[in-house]
Amino acid sequence: MKKTFSSETEQISEVILKAKEKACSETSAEPEPDLTQKIEWPLTCTVGPGLEGAIACETEVGYVNGSKGWLIYRGYDIFDLCAYSTFEEVSYLLVNGKLPKEKQLAAFKKKLAENRHLNETQRLLMSFPVENMNPMAALRLGTNLMRQKQTFRDEEAAELKAEAIAADEDSIAMETKPHGDAHAIYEFKRSQVKRPRSSDITLLNAESLESCYCLISGVATIAAAIARLRNRKLPLEPLTELSHAANLLYMITGKIPTPVEERIMDICLILHADHGMNASTFASMVVASTLSDVYFSIGAGIAALNGPLHGGANEQVMRILREIGDPKEVPSWYAAQREAKQKISGFGHRVYKTYDPRARILAPLAKILVASHPEMKKLYKVATALEKEVVATLGKNKNIFPNVDYYSGFIYNSLSIPTDFFTPMFAVARVSGWTARVFEYLQNNRIFRPRAMYVGKFDRKYTPLTKR
Ligand SMILES: CC(C)(COP(=O)(O)OP(=O)(O)OC[C@H]1O[C@@H](n2cnc3c(N)ncnc32)[C@H](O)[C@@H]1OP(=O)(O)O)[C@@H](O)C(=O)NCCC(=O)NCCS
Repeated sequence: MKKTFSSETEQISEVILKAKEKACSETSAEPEPDLTQKIEWPLTCTVGPGLEGAIACETEVGYVNGSKGWLIYRGYDIFDLCAYSTFEEVSYLLVNGKLPKEKQLAAFKKKLAENRHLNETQRLLMSFPVENMNPMAALRLGTNLMRQKQTFRDEEAAELKAEAIAADEDSIAMETKPHGDAHAIYEFKRSQVKRPRSSDITLLNAESLESCYCLISGVATIAAAIARLRNRKLPLEPLTELSHAANLLYMITGKIPTPVEERIMDICLILHADHGMNASTFASMVVASTLSDVYFSIGAGIAALNGPLHGGANEQVMRILREIGDPKEVPSWYAAQREAKQKISGFGHRVYKTYDPRARILAPLAKILVASHPEMKKLYKVATALEKEVVATLGKNKNIFPNVDYYSGFIYNSLSIPTDFFTPMFAVARVSGWTARVFEYLQNNRIFRPRAMYVGKFDRKYTPLTKR
């Protein structure tokens, strides 16, 4: 692939390609056949609690291979995208399925630049006590405020009613007959039947794509405004000549980043843009599947990401590294954690049972940035010492390696992004994955409707209130 960066940032691409070489030498490459093939509905799979292992749909957006340490967007390896691409190009790729040609990329960037100006939404946001709110709650509020105008969903609501009723749970054949296999199979196979009213799909393509672009661009503006309001500063207008990553940093800090800072921020955005059917992506898709709209879907994604089991381990990593304080303290601190059977934040992953490729990229990039921040430089030494200890003890035995959250905090803190703002930064990047997957799912929508096993009682006699 052609290299497109200045000599100043060229070293970053080289660092990433080196990390890729290491990754390739440590894991052999082959997709998992049972997770990379066309589905014949109905599908038999083993499902754990929380739908673990369940296959909900087909996708071409992205693929994570946990045992090989792969992360693929639309067929492209994450190492190559980070080495050669930009967040704008990757967002276009995720949503549209193809890398843009020059003219398409220019038009897409123009659209993002236009959508980055959200003065009206910022004004509305400022009428709330944003400085006292949880930043993710403020981000969700801001995303809802972006949807001030009617969308085509409102205008088409009456027409869509018929379909909404058809999708209502009480009218789903498989629900009316819990043991009716024939109905279930009929329902599952419905996707092979022509979807009703193809004119809606056209409308959906045009209008929803515009909304996806508004969100990819606008959520960053909203996040930056929140970061400033929390610091008792007024939001800043975006600068047209800056990239998405540079604008994000500029609108948060008020300083135009250096090319190296901009490039590293851009790579962080690329790395966090998509990651399979995680909880926030699934939440977005569930909301979209009701034929709600993409703003509400993304609001659901933000809400899901707010939970500590999903976003936020990087905040904890920075706290524990500061608590350890010195590389010399690592052995005793780690021994105490092991003794107490504590999990170490920033290590282990539900899907990756090898090195998380995002950590392989972020570690050397963090090293570049911390070089000019003495406090961060010292903490980085603590981090590498702890990584050595954890990998030596848990790597082989339990496949516990650093994950994306282990080094990302160094980058954000070095870029003057406060620790309690890490999760909103994650959301800003993930909007492109959320929108891409929502948009893809809507092309062949099926309202999500898993079932729960009822294990409660039957035939209980109602006791009047006064007799309980
Ligand atoms: C991410 C996480 C929830 C994945 O969990 P999982 O795949 O379900 O793994 P489990 O929690 O079942 O753990 C499997 C084993 O590895 C151990 N383990 C997992 N993560 C560990 C960690 N970070 N530190 C120490 N031990 C860990 C568990 O104690 C367990 O050991 P056991 O078999 O002796 O009981 C888990 O690794 C974790 O909590 N990590 C720390 C938080 C974090 O960094 N989250 C961000 C993820 S991107």
